Amino acid sequence: MYFWLCLVLGAIFFKGGYSADVHPEKVVAFAGGNAVLPCKLKIPVSDHVPTVEWSKEGLDSDIVFLYRDGFETFEMKNLDFEFRTSLFMREVKKGNVSLRISNLKPSDAGIYQCLIIQRNGSREATKVELAVGM
Ligand SMILES: *[C@@H]1O[C@H](CO)[C@@H](O)[C@H](O)[C@H]1NC(C)=O
Ligand SMILES: *[C@@H]1O[C@H](CO)[C@@H](O)[C@H](O)[C@H]1NC(C)=O
Repeated sequence: MYFWLCLVLGAIFFKGGYSADVHPEKVVAFAGGNAVLPCKLKIPVSDHVPTVEWSKEGLDSDIVFLYRDGFETFEMKNLDFEFRTSLFMREVKKGNVSLRISNLKPSDAGIYQCLIIQRNGSREATKVELAVGM
């Protein structure tokens, strides 16, 4: 009985720890200003930067920034974010693929996902929540 209780409590604590870990980082910025959504490669690659896909939850066309083979790719980008999103190119080589969103609108608030796809196919995703104040 005691064993099972420990097991159940252990599972609850483990789950709690896990969801805390998954809880998105929160960034607060103001309408009309800029926001930097943090995202970093765990293993920096010096010679080849993999694919970086920034998307926003709840949009029909959810890509807000797509970086592939050293360049930004525009085909799938949501038009609402045209000319408003960029990476810090000098930082990308260091594995920092944080997204800058400029001229913020209240509708930009929400959950963003940074997905990094390595050349060997391994994927890492992180979420960031953006709050836009007026
Ligand atoms: C990534 O680059 C941005 C812009 O230069 C900077 O604000 C941020 O602190 C950097 N993040 C890390 C983890 O180095
Ligand atoms: C891909 O490479 C990374 C870094 O070298 C490594 O950590 C990861 O396990 C690899 N993934 C696969 C699917 O081979």
